[in-house]
Amino acid sequence: MADATDPAQPQTQRLFFALWPDDATRDALNRTGKWLHQHWGGRRMRADTLHLTLAFLGNIPAETCAAMLPRIDALRADAFDLVLDQAGFWSHNRIGWLGCRDASVPLAALAERLRDGLRLAGVPFDAKPFVPHVTLLRNAAGGPVPSCTPVRWQAGDFVLIASRTGTDGAHYDILRRWPLT
Ligand code: 2AM
Repeated sequence: MADATDPAQPQTQRLFFALWPDDATRDALNRTGKWLHQHWGGRRMRADTLHLTLAFLGNIPAETCAAMLPRIDALRADAFDLVLDQAGFWSHNRIGWLGCRDASVPLAALAERLRDGLRLAGVPFDAKPFVPHVTLLRNAAGGPVPSCTPVRWQAGDFVLIASRTGTDGAHYDILRRWPLT
């Protein structure tokens, strides 16, 4: 895991907070990605990139990131189980995703607490309403929504991710991990 306060880190990084799946959850999400790809085509997200974004910050200077971390360290939220059982397609960005049929109160509370912490720390983030989803396909064609085997996710922590763009797409480095209690 990279150290977000390490002076060797770049001056500005593209950052977001996310739930990061364990291996079994990642495999299950990846299987659903294959299933959706059979219906909707497009480009599957690499298994190692699958995540659920809690708050997207964008390009953040290293000193802003370092100043924000104590706020996030102070955040307390409960661990929870999540069931991802609803596929969806957004025609405006052609994303195929997996989300929750029923809203998850603890997940929404975690995202809200995080966003409150960012506001208090004066860190900018994308303030669009939180719509929990795991992006599985990009540039998909869409169509009738297939039913999906529910993916159960035991959320025991959340992470801060730095995103880099490589020749083979996005790469995500986990900068720091916070436990849910
Ligand atoms: P998406 O998968 O629905 O595009 C890294 O880009 C992660 O942050 C992705 O999960 C992406 O969601 C999410 N994200 C949220 N708001 C974003 C924004 N304004 N720009 C880019 N990514 C955003």
